[in-house]
Amino acid sequence: MTDGFRERYGPWALVTGASEGIGESFARSLAARGLNLLLVARRAGPLDALAAELRAAHGIQVRTATADVARPDLLAVLDALAGGEEVGLVVHNAAFSALGPFLERSFADLQQVIDVNCRAPLAMAHHFGKKMAARGRGGIVLMTSLAGGQGTPMVASYAASKAFEIVLAEGLWDELRPAGIDVLACRAGATRTPSYEASRPRKKVPLMEAGPVVEEALAALGRQPVVVAGRLNRAVNFVMQRLLSRSAAIRFMGKHTRKMYE
Ligand SMILES: NC(=O)c1ccc[n+]([C@@H]2O[C@H](COP(=O)([O-])OP(=O)(O)OC[C@H]3O[C@@H](n4cnc5c(N)ncnc54)[C@H](OP(=O)(O)O)[C@@H]3O)[C@@H](O)[C@H]2O)c1
Repeated sequence: MTDGFRERYGPWALVTGASEGIGESFARSLAARGLNLLLVARRAGPLDALAAELRAAHGIQVRTATADVARPDLLAVLDALAGGEEVGLVVHNAAFSALGPFLERSFADLQQVIDVNCRAPLAMAHHFGKKMAARGRGGIVLMTSLAGGQGTPMVASYAASKAFEIVLAEGLWDELRPAGIDVLACRAGATRTPSYEASRPRKKVPLMEAGPVVEEALAALGRQPVVVAGRLNRAVNFVMQRLLSRSAAIRFMGKHTRKMYE
């Protein structure tokens, strides 16, 4: 259902982590809905290639910024990129996962988890939320994870940061609704992306493709605070959240992630 999407969430959408994987799929789906795009990632090559392709295919405007979303002046970079255009939709998709044993990661890595997965979405929701509230419309999507539903060994800091995004989106979903702003946390399970494949999981698990994750997120925006993408992921989430005790759910996740990453 794309009718009225551009009027509700356009004319410009900002997507972080847009050059590949789920972020690239967001860029493609939003371009197909006629939104102009502000795309952010650290590497210029793939970002610029995607921008050129989407301009040619959809006749939209696409601007890119090569920036780490952890940088302290992120909002200034994003304002310069937007150049005063109306940003009606913000998708925070870039993430840092700090896989592996907690005590073996450097503290700098753990801080990067906070900066990319917590500080950046908080700053963007606050900054662009104010502009959206002044216009009386807009949308904010935070890409998060099944891992954010409970503590998850071997990715403890990542899971905690993903819980932050879920709870932030839930609160803002209700608080910002009267201002005309729709907020959504999209919780993905294992999804076939270059980043997932680069993590070299030793155990094979069923993977979703990025496209359907994004379509489920965009369909849920404005309808609910949180969506778990994919039927299998919803079943797993039901077991974890409703049937297992909290400690059993954590141990279940631990067994699974140790097999994948220890
Ligand atoms: N794939 C999965 O299995 C899975 C499962 C659950 C949840 N998720 C969530 O879905 C989202 C997307 O995941 P993904 O698998 O597509 O991979 P990802 O590594 O989170 O995102 C890849 C994209 O983000 C960019 N990026 C990474 N770090 C960045 C940073 N610090 N600043 C700016 N851009 C950055 C990458 O380009 P550059 O390298 O050029 O910066 C690339 O465009 C994440 O929020 C993740 O937590 C994914």
